[in-house]
Amino acid sequence: MTLKSGDSVKILIDIDAVSHEAAGIFINSAERCISLRGRFTVAISGGSTPGMLFSLLGSESYADKIDWSRVHLFWVDERCVPKEHKDSNFGGAWNSLLSHISIPESNIHRIKGEILPLDGALEYEKELITFFGADTVPAFDLVFLGMGEDGHTASLFPASVSLKEDKRLAVPVYVERLKSWRITLTLPVLNNAHSVVFLVTGRNKADVLKEILGRDESAKSYPACLIKPDNRSLIWLLDNDAASQISGSPAHI
Ligand code: 6PG
Repeated sequence: MTLKSGDSVKILIDIDAVSHEAAGIFINSAERCISLRGRFTVAISGGSTPGMLFSLLGSESYADKIDWSRVHLFWVDERCVPKEHKDSNFGGAWNSLLSHISIPESNIHRIKGEILPLDGALEYEKELITFFGADTVPAFDLVFLGMGEDGHTASLFPASVSLKEDKRLAVPVYVERLKSWRITLTLPVLNNAHSVVFLVTGRNKADVLKEILGRDESAKSYPACLIKPDNRSLIWLLDNDAASQISGSPAHI
């Protein structure tokens, strides 16, 4: 399986092992960035996969490993629902992580899913510009991404016009299949991250994953295939089920 240099794939036995590996990456990245720059900027995804990772990071065994006062938490995307709604990505992170750690409120940069989608995207873009500066594309230290069965990532779905967005940092997207609005970071931001880590588990993602990691011609239509952090690291953390269609041993190049 050929991968772009700088990419790596780690296949772990199950979602528990994937979550522990991701937690280790979070802690090591946080330690390194805080010692180098005095802060750690990370953007997290929603969906079900990262739930165990968040619970680990919020657990007693991990709590004292992270200086949360130096961590700035952003979201990769958000569903356009109130933060108390069961589908809210912020709400999911609040329940499993934020309500268990002492992170300053000013370090939590949530996307306002409760207001009009365009206003939510504009407000989030303004917050990104205020934090990272107006003359640069935000460069997160770490971005955690998931992937759907259709190869979407963040809230960038196949054939969406948002895939062509090369100016805005965040945009509202209407997802026809889900009949719902979302707000998402755009590819310029995601691909400007120093490190991107995909967490993908489950047999239902194995076929798409095989196409993407094999860089098959057919994979080009998948948004997850468009994540190529320029000369930075891209790590795929997979469980055995998600990797069941990938031949050979885990590739590290
Ligand atoms: C979201 C996520 C989305 C998610 C994938 C995978 O808001 O839903 O950002 O991109 O990562 O849909 O979701 P699962 O982890 O639930 O499979």
